[in-house]
Amino acid sequence: MTQTTRRLMTLKSDPGVTLIDAVPAADLAEGEVVLALDRFSLTTNNITYAAYGDAIGYWKVFPTGRDDHGLMPVWGFADVVGSRAEGVAVGARVFGYFPMAETLTVQAEKVSSGGFADAAPWRKAVPDIYNRYVLCAADANYAAELENAEAIFRPLFITSYTAVDFLRDHDFFGAKQVVVSSASSKTAYGSAHCLVEDEVRLIGLTGARNRAFVEGLGAYDAVYGYDEVEMLKTGVPTLYLDLAGDPGLRRRVHAHFGADLKYDCLVGSTQSDDFTGDDPDLVGPRPVFFFAATCLDSHRQRGTLRAFYDRFFADQRAFFERVVDPASPWIRIVEHQGLEAAAKVVRDLADGRADAAEGAVVRLRA
Ligand SMILES: NC(=O)c1ccc[n+]([C@@H]2O[C@H](COP(=O)([O-])OP(=O)(O)OC[C@H]3O[C@@H](n4cnc5c(N)ncnc54)[C@H](OP(=O)(O)O)[C@@H]3O)[C@@H](O)[C@H]2O)c1
Repeated sequence: MTQTTRRLMTLKSDPGVTLIDAVPAADLAEGEVVLALDRFSLTTNNITYAAYGDAIGYWKVFPTGRDDHGLMPVWGFADVVGSRAEGVAVGARVFGYFPMAETLTVQAEKVSSGGFADAAPWRKAVPDIYNRYVLCAADANYAAELENAEAIFRPLFITSYTAVDFLRDHDFFGAKQVVVSSASSKTAYGSAHCLVEDEVRLIGLTGARNRAFVEGLGAYDAVYGYDEVEMLKTGVPTLYLDLAGDPGLRRRVHAHFGADLKYDCLVGSTQSDDFTGDDPDLVGPRPVFFFAATCLDSHRQRGTLRAFYDRFFADQRAFFERVVDPASPWIRIVEHQGLEAAAKVVRDLADGRADAAEGAVVRLRA
């Protein structure tokens, strides 16, 4: 009997619309590895991968053979269930970037004691960091009990952390307060967590629905609603850390702070599908898109990547432990079973209905 693998595809023109199908699994060629996806996270970041699927190339990473549907990438843990690659053993557990599919066959290259990369030519569409699979057994920072937190926060916290590094390296562009939009997003409060000891006042901006959640985090010095932008204190050099990417909100923030706005760091676009920030009517500095992968590439070029990772992993572990601290967790992690359940989570995220107080993890293996 031919083996098949089920997968959840996304309609490229509407990331909330999904379709499950099954494709035959090919025989394993020399150098290939089959990864069975066990656990992955779903957050707005994944919806952004789909929204920018063409612009940034995410649709190319896991080809479907169809023009209308793509495989929306997710981050998670998988088990090696087949291997014809030297140095990659069946039974090993890995962390990495996957399509929402029961299995993924990769062409292992750059095999080392720490992991391997997928050499498939279509994966060159995205930076190196997206194509590496880390062997959990060789990862000194791996903890089985933190897998859910890691699946959710690892791809986001690297952005939270590198964005803060970047701003710190530039002395916050002279700013004394940082206004953070979509303050309820995990990437936003990851940054807030990193900024706790910096001498900047942190202001979270959020929607009415998520305000109580954001206030409850205690990660910001003050929390305001989107309808209260014009009440924010002026006369202070200010930096905008923009996770919402909402052009209307950006215009109001820029107009309100005027010459006091020193820098606009565009990190996310939870409420827009435009990441350029181009707007001829905008007052003040042009938004500058921040991309974590570029920061890591720069560390690699300067030979500082290892030193960066040493401090990053220690700080990340502390952050994971904080967000799931049983005494006062920042979020509840909810496990969903199967691709059908994943389709519902995707729909809610795309519609902006997901509960900020929950972190969604999908399990595929029994
Ligand atoms: N540049 C990079 O390298 C990089 C890397 C990682 C993530 N990101 C970006 O960071 C952003 C946050 O991702 P995340 O995974 O951390 O988000 P998340 O935890 O899922 O939080 C999403 C938040 O965004 C707002 N939101 C989401 N969908 C919305 C909708 N349809 N309408 C209105 N508001 C909506 C809500 O916050 P509020 O009510 O508070 O607005 C919501 O709580 C994404 O755009 C992601 O792509 C960028």
